Amino acid sequence: MDARKVQKVDVAIIGAGWYGLFDSALTSGDKLFNYSDTPMPPNGGDPKDPRVTGEMIHNYLQKYAEDHGLLRRIRFNTFVEGAKKLPDGWRLTLRECQDVIETEKLLVATGVTSIPYMPALERAPDSVPIIHSRDLGTSWNALGDDNIENVIVTGAAKSAYDAVYLLLNMGKNVTWVIREDGGGPLSILPFRVLNMVNTIAVASTRLMTHLSPSILNTKGRLYWLLQRTTPGRWCVGRFWDFLDYVSGVHAGYARGDHVEMLRPEIDRQSVFWAHSGLGVVTLPDFWTTLHKRSLNIVRGEIRSTQERSVTLKTGEVLDADYLVMCTGWGDHFAIFDEKHKADIGLPGYHGQIIPDASEKGFDWRRYDIEADRIVDEMLPFLAKPPTLKYPKSLDPNLQQKWRLYRRSIPVSLAGKGDRSLAILGQIHTVQTPLVSEVQSLWTILYLLGEIDLPDTDEMAKEVALWNAWTRKRYLNQGQKFPYSLYDFLPTSV
Ligand SMILES: Cc1cc2nc3c(=O)[nH]c(=O)nc-3n(C[C@H](O)[C@H](O)[C@H](O)COP(=O)(O)OP(=O)(O)OC[C@H]3O[C@@H](n4cnc5c(N)ncnc54)[C@H](O)[C@@H]3O)c2cc1C
Ligand SMILES: NC(=O)c1ccc[n+]([C@@H]2O[C@H](COP(=O)([O-])OP(=O)(O)OC[C@H]3O[C@@H](n4cnc5c(N)ncnc54)[C@H](OP(=O)(O)O)[C@@H]3O)[C@@H](O)[C@H]2O)c1
Repeated sequence: MDARKVQKVDVAIIGAGWYGLFDSALTSGDKLFNYSDTPMPPNGGDPKDPRVTGEMIHNYLQKYAEDHGLLRRIRFNTFVEGAKKLPDGWRLTLRECQDVIETEKLLVATGVTSIPYMPALERAPDSVPIIHSRDLGTSWNALGDDNIENVIVTGAAKSAYDAVYLLLNMGKNVTWVIREDGGGPLSILPFRVLNMVNTIAVASTRLMTHLSPSILNTKGRLYWLLQRTTPGRWCVGRFWDFLDYVSGVHAGYARGDHVEMLRPEIDRQSVFWAHSGLGVVTLPDFWTTLHKRSLNIVRGEIRSTQERSVTLKTGEVLDADYLVMCTGWGDHFAIFDEKHKADIGLPGYHGQIIPDASEKGFDWRRYDIEADRIVDEMLPFLAKPPTLKYPKSLDPNLQQKWRLYRRSIPVSLAGKGDRSLAILGQIHTVQTPLVSEVQSLWTILYLLGEIDLPDTDEMAKEVALWNAWTRKRYLNQGQKFPYSLYDFLPTSV
C-alpha cells in the first residue's frame, strides 16, 4: 500500500478553460463570444471594434472566475498525469507531486491545444532553434533579435496563419512550408460579408443551421425543402458558392502573387467543407500583411535541420535562423492508458489503433454501416463530396472513432449505470462559449442522475450517426474530431 497523501473529493475537474470554468461555476459586450450570463465588454470599450483579443478572453475568464468564487477551488500549477478507474470513482495522480486525488465524479476538460505535437526531424548539431506555435509568446524576445532574419513556419491551419502574420509584422523574411499531401491551406472567412454583415452573427442564426446539412436538423418543412429537394439543395449550394467567392476575393487569391498558393484545396465551397478547418479574419490588415513580398510559400515537408538552414524531403535547402512548428497538438487523453481509452470510447492518438468495438459487446461495424446509409439518405448534399487531390486521409477506416454519447458520455460505462465520468470540449465549433455552457449543464445533470439515458443500442446508434455525419460533412477535420462548426443551434424549440 503506498503512503501517498490522498485527498478525497466529490467532483474533480481537470482543466480550467471555457469548459472547466463553467463546470466549476455550476458545481458551486460582444454578445457573440461569451457565457450567456456575462457579456464580454468590447475591445477598449469601443462597441465598433470587432476584435476579440487574447487579452480580452484572459481578462473575461479571470473576472468570471473571481466573480463566481472559483479561484479558491482551483488547484493551480497542477498537471494530472494519470487517471485510473476505482470501483466507485477515479484516482488521479499528479506530475511532480506525491499527492493523489480520489473523486466520485470526474470531468475531463483538458481542451485540445495544450500539449504540442512536434514531428520528429533529423537535427544536425547546432541546428536552428525550433519552437512550437504554443511558445511564440515566450520566444518573442529571441525572435525579435535583429540577427534572426529568416524564419521558417510549417503547418497550414490557424496557428500557422497567425504565426506568419505576427512574424511578417516583426519585419522577418518568412518562408512558409506547407506539406503537399495533407489538408492544405485553411479556409478563411472575412469578418464581414460584403463589408456589411458580421460573419459570426450570420453563423449564429437558425437559418445557418438549415443551410449547413446537419444530423441535428432532419425534421420540419425547411429541412425538407432545403435538404430533400433538388431545387433546395441547389439554393444551399449557391449560398456556399457565394460565401466562398467573397472569402476568396477578400483574401485576394487571384491578385497574381504568392497568396494564390494559399487557395484552399477545395475549389468551390471550401468555407463550407472546412476540410483543413476554418478561420475568421478579424484584423483589418491581415491579408495585406500576407501579401507582403517578404513572404515566400513552398509546398513540401521538412526532413532535417542544419546550422542555418532546413532541408525538405525533396532535397531543397532553405535559409533559416528559426523554425516555428505550427503542426498541431498532442494527446490530451494520455492521462488514460490504452485499456481505459478503449473502455471509455476514446480514439487512439495519431493513427495508434485502440481495440474498438465488438469485444466490448458492441458490434460498432454494424452501427457504422447503417449510420452511413442514413446520413446519405437524410442529407444527400453530403453524399457526393468534392474531388480531392489527396483523398487518402478520407478513408472511413482511418477515422478517429469517438464512441461518446453526445460527444461526452462513455457508452459502455453509462450502459452499466456508472455515471462517474464525462468528457468535455472535444466538439470543434465557432461558438465555444455557448457550446461549453450547454454541454456543461447537460453533463452535470447526467452525472447527478437527473437525466434518463436511452438504452445502449440507442446510444450506439446516436454515436455512429454523428461519426458518419461529421466525417462526411467536414472531411479531414471530421476524420479527426467531433467537428461541428456551424451546427450548434436547434432549428425549432
Ligand atoms: C492561439 C489560439 C487561438 C485560439 N482562438 C480561438 C478562437 O478565436 N475561437 C475559438 O473558438 N477557439 C479558439 N482556439 C481554440 C481554443 O483552444 C478553444 O476554443 C478553447 O480554449 C477551448 O476551451 P477548453 O476549456 O476546452 O480548453 P482550454 O482553454 O485549452 O483549457 C484546458 C485547460 O486544461 C489544462 N490541462 C490540459 N491537460 C491537463 C492535465 N493533464 N492536467 C491539468 N490540466 C490540464 C490546460 O492547461 C488548460 O488550462 C484557439 C486556440 C489557440 C491555441
Ligand atoms: N485565432 C484563432 O481563432 C485560432 C488560432 C490558433 C488556433 N485556433 C484553433 O486551435 C485549433 C488548433 O489549430 P492549429 O492551427 O494549432 O492546429 P491544427 O488545426 O491541428 O493544424 C495543424 C497543421 O499542422 C499540419 N501538420 C501536422 N503534422 C504535420 C507535419 N508532420 N508536417 C507538416 N505539417 C503538419 C497540418 O496539416 P495537414 O492537413 O497536412 O495534416 C495542419 O495544417 C483549431 O481548432 C483552431 O481553429 C484558433
